[in-house]
Amino acid sequence: METRKSTDPVLQEKFDTLHRKNTEALTGGGAKRIEQQHAKGKLTARERIELLLDEGSFEELDKFVTHRAKDFGLDKEHYLGDGVITGYGTVNGRLVYVFSQDFTVFGGSLSETHAAKIVKIMDMAMKNGAPVIGLNDSGGARIQEGVVSLGGYADIFYRNTLASGVIPQLSAIMGPCAGGAVYSPAITDFIFMVENTSFMFVTGPNVVKTVTHETVTAEELGGASTHSTKSGVTHFSAANEVECINQLKQILQYIPQNCEEQPPSLPYQVGNELRPALNQIIPANPNQPYDMREVIHGVVDENSFFEVHKNFAENMVVGFAHLAGRSIGIVGNQPAVLAGVLDIDASVKAARFVRFCDCFNIPLLVFEDVPGFLPGTDQEWNGIITHGAKLLFAFSEATVPRVTVITRKAYGGAYDVMNSKHIGADLNYAWPTAEIAVMGAKGAAEIIFKKEISEAADPAAKLNEKVDEYTKKFANPYKAAQRGFIDEVIYPDQTREKLIKAFKMLENKVDKLPRKKHGNIPL
Ligand code: HXC
Repeated sequence: METRKSTDPVLQEKFDTLHRKNTEALTGGGAKRIEQQHAKGKLTARERIELLLDEGSFEELDKFVTHRAKDFGLDKEHYLGDGVITGYGTVNGRLVYVFSQDFTVFGGSLSETHAAKIVKIMDMAMKNGAPVIGLNDSGGARIQEGVVSLGGYADIFYRNTLASGVIPQLSAIMGPCAGGAVYSPAITDFIFMVENTSFMFVTGPNVVKTVTHETVTAEELGGASTHSTKSGVTHFSAANEVECINQLKQILQYIPQNCEEQPPSLPYQVGNELRPALNQIIPANPNQPYDMREVIHGVVDENSFFEVHKNFAENMVVGFAHLAGRSIGIVGNQPAVLAGVLDIDASVKAARFVRFCDCFNIPLLVFEDVPGFLPGTDQEWNGIITHGAKLLFAFSEATVPRVTVITRKAYGGAYDVMNSKHIGADLNYAWPTAEIAVMGAKGAAEIIFKKEISEAADPAAKLNEKVDEYTKKFANPYKAAQRGFIDEVIYPDQTREKLIKAFKMLENKVDKLPRKKHGNIPL
């Protein structure tokens, strides 16, 4: 962490150790406090920064700041830094701003001055166009300070909102976070949680017990598994803090510093891009599932797929990847889960991801195999109309390069929604196995040939005959290709080659939305 290095390694080592301990003490750490964190399986606020940033790159700001509160005995208890370490440094050579809350100081709670330190680096990040990474470990607003701490949170929420879409904002949750400590992360782009040691809730289990008489553990209420599977609040969950910090570093490899820049790309020499293995993925029986991740892995650069929201709404797969070294965002229906149907959670998950990619100039690639929207009272009563519309809206307003590959089913409204050319996609490809129609053949035949089937001597045979007729006519990509809705029918093994060329062709795309203050996405 130090910028000045001794030429004697033994002295340097001693200096580093002493300096770190002293600084830890200055910011409210000290051996006892370090032990407290380690005993819970957590790292200290400073250790987390050290792990995140390039060695020697951290520049700390405001380490002598203390709180100004006087009530409840706080005038006798001061810690330099006031429970949060703030500053800037680099991750793989790229500038980031960071704050790291120290739970050992008043539970990492946010005082007026603690908030002002975070606000200062957020303002700097906005002016200088670099991501803000929050390492959150906080009991929320500092209760003893009352309204000034609430004001401090509001100052942060306001900046989170203004910064949204301008600079990437990443939030790692590394302890029990409550109240304002969860609402600020909620406005940021991505949330990362650590299993068993981090929790997120607006009100903790004790308050829940009092108000609703429910008995629930902190883990059940707001642990990483709850938020990565049930609520979808967190996008990532990690086994421990080291893995969590590694995930933060990984995501930075795909995203630009700010909305004016392009994402970083890796050197790549185009060679033989045919991928014969892709020809083997789609089963002969159109109702048999397969894993869309196999298609994704087969198309993108080796080991480059970085999945987001992996355990939430698994009927939709989203994530970042590199294609010939360029960063792309992938949205894919997942036929292996619920046949890849679109439901509320899948729509919301994909819509949010699409909007992130569009904010930050990351081209979108869609793999489509979707039988339609999920029917039923549960979905209708919970608002599939509104939530499904989010995805339609998100794709429609995205101006980044957009390409779709229809691998199999593209039925009904879902055909329109999943990045069709009608809503602004640049290119739509289909594999020969694609079925593009208003609905599946059996359902369609039962409706449009109802009379003929019921009056037939053998209704079952008639139905089969009509299903066959409908399948031949519509359950293929050629009707859509005749209209130009599909630009080209391609073999699976050609997909990578076609996509590399397509995104290269689209790299200078300029597209603008009509002048407006902002759209009104159906929230
Ligand atoms: C001041 C706090 C604090 C807080 C914790 N501490 N939260 N001090 N303000 N908000 C202190 C405790 O008093 C304790 O001090 C130390 O931090 C550790 O707390 P513990 O309770 O012993 O830890 P743990 O059992 O791990 O529980 C952590 C916790 C719990 C779940 C976060 O402390 C808790 O429920 N805190 C209150 C959460 C809350 O309601 N915050 C206000 C939300 S309102 P000692 O000295 O004993 O070590 C809010 C408004 C924002 O944030 C607006 C939102 C829109």
